[in-house]
Amino acid sequence: MSRSCVITTEEPNWWLTPPAEASCEVGGTEQEPSAERANGWDKQPVVATAELVTATTAHLARQSGPALVRFADSAGLADWVASLLLRDRLLRPERPLGLATGRTMEPVYAALARQVNGLTPEERQELRRRWCSFNLDAYVGLDRADPRSFAAEMASRLTTPLGLDPERVHLPDGQAADPHAAAECYAAQLAASGGIGLQLLGLGLNGHVGFNEPPCEVDASCRCLELSPATRQQNAGAFGGDPEAVPQQAITLGLREILAAERLLLVVTGAAKAEVLARALREPPTPELPASWIQLHPRALVVADGAAAALLDASREQRELLA
Ligand code: GLP
Repeated sequence: MSRSCVITTEEPNWWLTPPAEASCEVGGTEQEPSAERANGWDKQPVVATAELVTATTAHLARQSGPALVRFADSAGLADWVASLLLRDRLLRPERPLGLATGRTMEPVYAALARQVNGLTPEERQELRRRWCSFNLDAYVGLDRADPRSFAAEMASRLTTPLGLDPERVHLPDGQAADPHAAAECYAAQLAASGGIGLQLLGLGLNGHVGFNEPPCEVDASCRCLELSPATRQQNAGAFGGDPEAVPQQAITLGLREILAAERLLLVVTGAAKAEVLARALREPPTPELPASWIQLHPRALVVADGAAAALLDASREQRELLA
């Protein structure tokens, strides 16, 4: 089977294996992919990179919160994250994939498109047949066709390059006349699809995940909310640099839906996020830092580049195990 993509590592076993004791509610039990479902992906050769820091079963024994995978090279990071997303769809399509937008994810989707190009036509067809994703969030008041909307972003970075059926790429309806009802409807649609399997997450400078702005309780559910000035400032780049032009409201999955996912994959890049990442992983979970709630999840993996992980001292980071 010819491929242009390289699977840089296997997924850590503890990440795939149901924990002995879950510290927060997670749904379902991991099922071994059938030979038919596996489609050969579980037999891919493993090419480990020197910079990769990976977790082992020792992590499972400790049950001590998120593990950190650190990449020196950002292209390697994007490739690895993309390969996890691809493996998720090909090997574990039973539950939807949770997706995120933002600048951090741009190289990830580019890598995913490259990897999908390297599949055989049959594999691409299988991927399209199995695809089902739910995005974390959407601005309220932007037309789906507006290039600044997350729907347009997903169409150009994911749906079109991968040749996916747009009906299988779900986002909250930010154009709905009643965004609060639209949020409830989105939560119900997700629940009817079985809840998220693998949830991809980015990190806001103020510690938000999705658009869960601080303060945010651990059980906050999918809802329409006001965006903070900090977030509108952070995302102003897509709106001509004007924070006032950024929509005031958004619909986001809540921590409730996020923490109910089987696996979390938080991807953080760049020096600007180093402090908030260190706080989110080191400080006791608090509503003031919504990302800190992922510490409660038994299968959370944090993937960071060297700049973002700069304040996480490997020698003191018990959850980080050098390969
Ligand atoms: C945005 C989005 C998140 C995203 C995060 C980081 O506001 N709502 O889903 O992951 O903030 O964005 P970026 O990657 O552009 O820094």
